[in-house]
Amino acid sequence: MDKRRRAQKLDKIARDIQESILEGYSERFKNEFLSPQNIGKIEDADCHVSITGVCGDTIEMSLSIKNGRISDIRFMTDGCGPTITCASYVTRIAKGKFIEEALQIKFTDVEGYFQGLPEESRHCAKLAVMTLKAALEKYSANQTNK
Ligand code: FES
Repeated sequence: MDKRRRAQKLDKIARDIQESILEGYSERFKNEFLSPQNIGKIEDADCHVSITGVCGDTIEMSLSIKNGRISDIRFMTDGCGPTITCASYVTRIAKGKFIEEALQIKFTDVEGYFQGLPEESRHCAKLAVMTLKAALEKYSANQTNK
């Protein structure tokens, strides 16, 4: 088999694997999964948290706050694909919001946007929302104690 045909075959295998992994998820979920946003760490963040979920996976989140709004937000995780996907969405919708508004983001907002989540991925969305809340609460507590 020549190089080009081998590359095409590997591409097809990769696509088939991706399709089988994403079976049962909406198009919106697939798009977010394939192009996650806000991955990374803010070095001079105003707040940084690390939260571990029931499955043992962790999301680290860092925030920059300017005039009461989330001006930047990044995350890293050792968790699964759905965790990355849900944290991507949560950070996207949190960015630019006032702290009080971002605190209103709920697990059901994530589930609703993705038009439902398979049972085994629901805790991943909950972990993403929980991490955002923990970060905002930590930031607010630090401000109160200044
Ligand atoms: S399996 Fe642990 S957060 Fe998704």
